[in-house]
Amino acid sequence: MNFWTSVMHLVGSGAVAYYSAAQIRDPQTRPNVLASFQLAESGSVPFLSTLSDRAASEGDAWLAEKLQKHAADETKHGHIFAHALKQINKQVIDFQNQPPKSENKSPQQRSPFFAAFFQGYTSEQLKPAVIDWNVFMASTYILELDASKDFARMANVLPDQDPVSRHLKQGMLSIAQDETGHAAYLYEAMTRRMTPNQVQQLVDEWRTRKVNAMLAMVGGLLQRQGETRSLVQDSALSENTSELIVA
Ligand SMILES: [Fe+2]
Ligand SMILES: [Fe+2]
Repeated sequence: MNFWTSVMHLVGSGAVAYYSAAQIRDPQTRPNVLASFQLAESGSVPFLSTLSDRAASEGDAWLAEKLQKHAADETKHGHIFAHALKQINKQVIDFQNQPPKSENKSPQQRSPFFAAFFQGYTSEQLKPAVIDWNVFMASTYILELDASKDFARMANVLPDQDPVSRHLKQGMLSIAQDETGHAAYLYEAMTRRMTPNQVQQLVDEWRTRKVNAMLAMVGGLLQRQGETRSLVQDSALSENTSELIVA
């Protein structure tokens, strides 16, 4: 990692930590933050499950088992955020019952963050059936490592006084611990396939990509002047649809 990248990583982490902490502390913005986490966590489950099957079919039982546990953890994380939303009488909007906006793309595919992070790769190349294992491991390692720190920071700004916040705080701290575990097995997976030098190079490359992706995301936020699409609705409007978004 060059000097510029490491400085920007620190600036970027600080800015995101500040922004996300403010968003989760504010009762006005908290529902949307929780919904975006629920979507991201639950949305990764089919991807991880397919990768687990693929690792098994390629004869890597160790990796298959780690990926299966990873998928189970992300399922649990999605439920923690869904439960937190339910406690404030909100739930994720069932986008499958909404008319499609423009093209039928997932939020991840549309986001400037993911476009920059995976620059040079087509969405076909990133499908779990074909994604290059090194690309998956290094990119996910960086995201998990940062997520563990971000979740812990956000948990720590939640007030202890009211039981709902306190419950969410405990949930997020346990999520942060799981994410640390995910980063650790992914790092180990890389060391099983590559020399320490190659691992370092790959990790550096994806750290640089993450820094660039954060800059792209901040640019996108500024362009929209902080306006974000609402991801939640009052839970009285429809029942039992929260799982439907997990596609
Ligand atoms: Fe997670
Ligand atoms: Fe994770």
